[in-house]
Amino acid sequence: MIEANQHNAELIERILRLKRQRNAIILAHNYQLGEVQDIADFVGDSLGLSRTAAKTEADVVVFCGVHFMAEIVSILCPDKISLLPDANAGCPMADMITAERLREEKKHHPGATVVCYINSSAAVKAESDICCTSANAVRVVESLDAEEILFIPDQYLSHYISTKVRKRIIPWPGFCSTHIRIQPQDIITLRQEHTQAKVLIHPECRPEVIALADEVLSTGGMCRFANETETRELIIGTEIGIIHRLRKENHDKKFIPASDQAICPRMKLITLENILWALEEMTTEIKVPEEVRLKAKAAVDKMLESSI
Ligand code: 13P
Ligand code: SF4
Repeated sequence: MIEANQHNAELIERILRLKRQRNAIILAHNYQLGEVQDIADFVGDSLGLSRTAAKTEADVVVFCGVHFMAEIVSILCPDKISLLPDANAGCPMADMITAERLREEKKHHPGATVVCYINSSAAVKAESDICCTSANAVRVVESLDAEEILFIPDQYLSHYISTKVRKRIIPWPGFCSTHIRIQPQDIITLRQEHTQAKVLIHPECRPEVIALADEVLSTGGMCRFANETETRELIIGTEIGIIHRLRKENHDKKFIPASDQAICPRMKLITLENILWALEEMTTEIKVPEEVRLKAKAAVDKMLESSI
């Protein structure tokens, strides 16, 4: 244990030194390993990370998250170097749709406005009218002057939105392979064991799980809710990496993961070792081709400019 701590301390020192030399910033998603969150300059949800990426003055952004997140940096700030410490850290849900398949689907719904969840590739964003995250999905769809929405790629987020707005939502059959592991019975059992607890559920979960929630929130929304609530016990229905941040920020509260199966293997590919390697070798750089970037940027900008 002492050796492991010593090893981490050395890694952290080298990362911080290189970070200064390269004028780099480290951004981490709420699902990252605890030690990765702890060295980041900013930890947040997809919306918060996109906003931070859009205004950073750093020359290099080390993105501790998944591929589509590092693409957002390239889309919004093409002059910056966007590094993903493990090139295999892709989101399986984002891979459930391609630009080509979306183009085909659009032909079947010529009157529909295409809203893409941020968990999608730059090429798919380039084929979409506006982007959204789990934090603003309902408000984005509500704000559109359109009755028919083709919502891609998450069928469960799409279903959740359809319960909140009076528009026709056409879903795409994608899903998050981590959130579907949370089962209704997990919540029912935990509620019986923790009768005073509030249940926070991410909208990527199945509708039967969402139906059992007290609050349906993005990961950033969960962190804010936990900070502000008087409730001492919270059952957390999302990827378990967020528990590290919740406990760190709220010593007086108890956080119970809805399921210990809710682990995103791709998020966990990022380690202190490969962050150091990324900064040493300036790899793997994620760069979106200019033609795709300009179209994808229009969809992301529309979301950011509407400030919802
Ligand atoms: P948020 O952090 O934006 O809620 O997204 C969850 C997620 O699955 C990111 O991959
Ligand atoms: Fe993708 Fe789900 Fe992992 Fe998020 S938690 S990166 S949506 S697989």
